[in-house]
Amino acid sequence: MKKEIQNHLDSIKKFNSDKVDKLDDFKIKYLGRKGIVNDLFSKFKEVPDTQKKEVGLKINELKDLVQNKYDDLLNKIGSNQDNLSSEDISKPGFPIKSGSLHPITIIKNKVIDIFSQVGFDLSDGPEIEDDWHNFTALNLPKDHPARDMQDTFFIQTNPDILLRTHTSSVQVRYMENNSPPINIISPGRVYRNEAISARSHCLFHQVEGIVVDENISFADLKQMVLYFTKAMFGKSKLRFRPSFFPFTEPSAEVDIYWGLESESDYRLTKGTGWLEIMGCGMVDPKVLENCNIDPEKYSGYAFGLGIERIAMLIYEIPDIRLFFENDIRFLEQFKS
Ligand code: DAH
Repeated sequence: MKKEIQNHLDSIKKFNSDKVDKLDDFKIKYLGRKGIVNDLFSKFKEVPDTQKKEVGLKINELKDLVQNKYDDLLNKIGSNQDNLSSEDISKPGFPIKSGSLHPITIIKNKVIDIFSQVGFDLSDGPEIEDDWHNFTALNLPKDHPARDMQDTFFIQTNPDILLRTHTSSVQVRYMENNSPPINIISPGRVYRNEAISARSHCLFHQVEGIVVDENISFADLKQMVLYFTKAMFGKSKLRFRPSFFPFTEPSAEVDIYWGLESESDYRLTKGTGWLEIMGCGMVDPKVLENCNIDPEKYSGYAFGLGIERIAMLIYEIPDIRLFFENDIRFLEQFKS
């Protein structure tokens, strides 16, 4: 196998072309799904243990060589083009860089994936909400002090209209229009009038989840949270801390045990090893009633989590503002 790799290395070094389609063929031949590199990796099992390290390094060298060769030749073609004299100056620059998904989108898709696998549907609602769906129906009447927890942007000309402060408003909309069994998540943008700092931003993203049916209990909620944390973070040591949300009773905040293995774990968890990741609870019967669902017959649980928070944990991003600056040096790091 070493000989085979060496032969490939030699022919890659010799390869040359100034035709883009030839370059593409070259790259696909080595790096394509059914290409030589994948083939070598699949044969890697048969390499004796004593040689695994050396052969592994060689295959990676081959992979890098192909990519570098491809980039170099492509750049050469680009710079040889006499752009100025070419007739169409509105043509895009060359070579064209491919973009990548925003980290928030990547994490949002992952969350959707995880919950879809156990039967959750997606639902969404408007970002410009009314007082009823954002607050009152969720057991937060006008004079309720808990409204202070979510500093709100109101639409100046109409105090009844606001930018939603959480995706919990979608629970209300969904329950008003559907009867149990209910099983949805709702990802989306939310707005709060918060000081912009490394940890808070006026616009951010949440995912709301709600399940309503007969005989839904706190045990169901715990099991779902456990399923999610395992799938998302690969972690299953959890702690449910009693908390308060007007729309759930009882309410809890969930911490996961992140560990204390590195300096960044210490910093992230403030030396405790624990990290808060979501709020949740049993849907308050009053909320069910507000949405015309009989609380004698049905019960449910709900949860809400912040997408930025999860992305910051997973990618070790220290400052929430990075998500919103559109700095290409930051975004480029999330190419898959
Ligand atoms: N809406 C809460 C917030 O924005 C998050 C939340 C907490 C949602 C508990 C829930 C829940 O559904 O049960 O802070």
